[in-house]
Amino acid sequence: MTWLITGGAGYIGAHVARAMLEAGEQVVVLDDLSSGVPERLPAGTELVRGSVLDREVLDRTLAGHGITGVVHLAGKKQVGESVQRPLHYYRENVYGLTVLLEAVAAAGVERFLFSSSAAVYGVPDVELITESTPCAPISPYGETKLAGEWLVRAAGRAHGISTACLRYFNVAGAGRPELADTGVFNVVPMFFDRLTRGEAPRIFGDDYPTPDGTCIRDYIHVSDLADAHLAVARKLTGQTENGDLTVNIGRGEGVSVRELADLVADVTGDKTPVQVEPRRPGDAAKAVSSADLISKELSWTATRSMRDMVESAWEGWCHHHPEALRS
Ligand SMILES: NC(=O)c1ccc[n+]([C@@H]2O[C@H](COP(=O)([O-])OP(=O)(O)OC[C@H]3O[C@@H](n4cnc5c(N)ncnc54)[C@H](O)[C@@H]3O)[C@@H](O)[C@H]2O)c1
Repeated sequence: MTWLITGGAGYIGAHVARAMLEAGEQVVVLDDLSSGVPERLPAGTELVRGSVLDREVLDRTLAGHGITGVVHLAGKKQVGESVQRPLHYYRENVYGLTVLLEAVAAAGVERFLFSSSAAVYGVPDVELITESTPCAPISPYGETKLAGEWLVRAAGRAHGISTACLRYFNVAGAGRPELADTGVFNVVPMFFDRLTRGEAPRIFGDDYPTPDGTCIRDYIHVSDLADAHLAVARKLTGQTENGDLTVNIGRGEGVSVRELADLVADVTGDKTPVQVEPRRPGDAAKAVSSADLISKELSWTATRSMRDMVESAWEGWCHHHPEALRS
């Protein structure tokens, strides 16, 4: 198999590319570098600089490298920005995927993995989110991921492609400091950012119906997520019949924002008390994945702990923000 990893110079993509290379797979990366960083890739990795919206580049890359499977991570991922720029999100995440699937079908590629998101579920009022929990996204970003899943499954059925849609829960941590997420869009880097500025980490709402009143989420280490991609890629490779797989990727364990803040204080050594702000619209009290299906289908479970995530994320943060160690 030779895998094309779109968005392979991004935070998650670079971990996936490394995991697949280390496992002996052939890998080519396609990335327009809109948020990706080529230095994240191991030396010698083939990088095609181009967009998934560019059919010509796709045709050339798929044929030129003899691609037999695609892992599609390229896309826009900021929920708030998707509310401001929905057309941009639909163009990049949905139209871009259509162009890619057309190229994949024309080239006869038979394996396709798609980065979906827990955002497809919206804010379901359930203890554990299973793959059969109804999807009701509440942001244009989540809508583009759900529409993406429909496209992937329909194209798979029509063109004989084995597909997998991976619904990531809250991704955190870094496999190496230099691979850390440099954006400040998730709660862990948001806490680090506030502490580095000498400001109190903020918690949005402490009056939710949860044991400590703060929201509960399911976090997954980015290296576990990368390993899950490899497991899915291997499963699709071994399949003799085409099929589609849609799975949650989480740990099945809820952690409250206050518990996370305590862990961040412990790891960073900065005990600045948190500041409680009003609730943000659209935040569910609890969003925890059932991890049963991926365990049953792939005999795969996450192995890294919440502490592994926070410690590795902090190392990565300090690598990119050396001033954090002086503050
Ligand atoms: N980070 C998370 O918590 C999270 C959670 C759920 C799902 N996801 C999904 O995982 C994927 C990767 O996320 P990430 O956190 O690594 O984000 P990222 O921004 O670090 O990576 C995205 C990569 O895609 C590239 N890219 C963007 N548009 C492109 C295009 N049109 N053509 C080619 N390359 C393009 C970017 O340059 C970047 O390298 C995204 O699809 C995202 O929606 C992420």
